Amino acid sequence: MFIHNREKVGATPTFSFLEEIMSTFNIAVLRGDGIGPEVVEEALNVLTRVGAVFGCTFEFREGLAGGAALDQVGRPLPDETLALCRSSDAVLLGAVGGPRWDDNPPELKPEQALLGLRRRLGLYANLRPAKVFPPIVEASTLKPEVVRDVDLLVVRELTGGLYFGEPRGLKKINGARTGINTLFYSESEVERIARVAFEAARKRRRKVCSVDKANVLETSQLWRSVVKEVAEKYPDVELTHMYVDNCAMQLIRHPRAFDVIVTENLFGDILSDEAAMLTGSIGMLPSASLGGNVALYEPVHGSAPDIAGQAKANPLATILSAAMMLRYSFQLDRAADAVERAVNDVLIEGYRTADIAAGSAGNIVSTSEMGRAVVDRLRNWSEEGGRTL
Ligand code: IPM
Ligand code: MG
Repeated sequence: MFIHNREKVGATPTFSFLEEIMSTFNIAVLRGDGIGPEVVEEALNVLTRVGAVFGCTFEFREGLAGGAALDQVGRPLPDETLALCRSSDAVLLGAVGGPRWDDNPPELKPEQALLGLRRRLGLYANLRPAKVFPPIVEASTLKPEVVRDVDLLVVRELTGGLYFGEPRGLKKINGARTGINTLFYSESEVERIARVAFEAARKRRRKVCSVDKANVLETSQLWRSVVKEVAEKYPDVELTHMYVDNCAMQLIRHPRAFDVIVTENLFGDILSDEAAMLTGSIGMLPSASLGGNVALYEPVHGSAPDIAGQAKANPLATILSAAMMLRYSFQLDRAADAVERAVNDVLIEGYRTADIAAGSAGNIVSTSEMGRAVVDRLRNWSEEGGRTL
């Protein structure tokens, strides 16, 4: 673990000591495995440029997580990494996992780093926006007229449900091998995630669709009734309910109908991957995990070991995750807007990584070329006297 301070800016003599302290943000950087290190690198470059343009300092402090941590210290989530995250203002994570660790016992799988961080940092609310950028509407496997203007937000419950319920495990019952997981939700867990969804909807198109399987599962029946109770405090937000199987269908039939989808952990895992394909590629989808003192930002995609180290990965999901960090952890809304606009601009200019190249005559670029293009858009703005500021 080391401290990497890329660029100190904003510390002009006219700044008071306090202002200088207030505009310095400590970010725990967990690059992880596979393409994680490559895509994180580009997001750090973008943040550094944002610091220069907006007059603040980002301090990057690196920690080990996932397979990288298993290889070096034998545990997927070392205590030092957890302590580093707890003492930071936000966490940026690349991705964890890979075939090398597939045969590890459950507690020694790289994914435990992610699950441990979510649980131990209390990150119960996972926001996964799926927004179709107009320049790449052709990149989706769905017809452009279906996906054009899609702009939805999956609010996934992240610290409960089947992922964490007890009892769980593999054991022999009467000589037969069995696997057990438990789907458990308490009222307070449902209530707090519902509130996140309604608050988010108030900043959007004021529609919440709560997704469950209340025709079969008791946990879903509880979910539905608690969501309805919370909705009474948000009379300005329209609430609908949908079974998860129907939601999977409606998402590809008429995705524009959705604004905010709120759902439990496993349903949210599955539906957010499906929503990703509306945008053309999972390589475009950022996420924020909120709820505790320190929030975590990560691309929705995994470690993609098949393309790791080949400079092919799309860094935009991680760059857009950094934009979410600017917005939610640092309240730097204008900086977040600038990064999102820079991403749209490079797409308009025709920059494409391989995953979003379908239907375009554009230029296929490497991970770092894509990152640099975004940084350059931000640099241009600062030289033009802050066009977007
Ligand atoms: C995700 C991933 C994780 C999850 C895995 C890697 C544990 O699929 O963030 O969506 O299932 O939550
Ligand atoms: Mg997933």
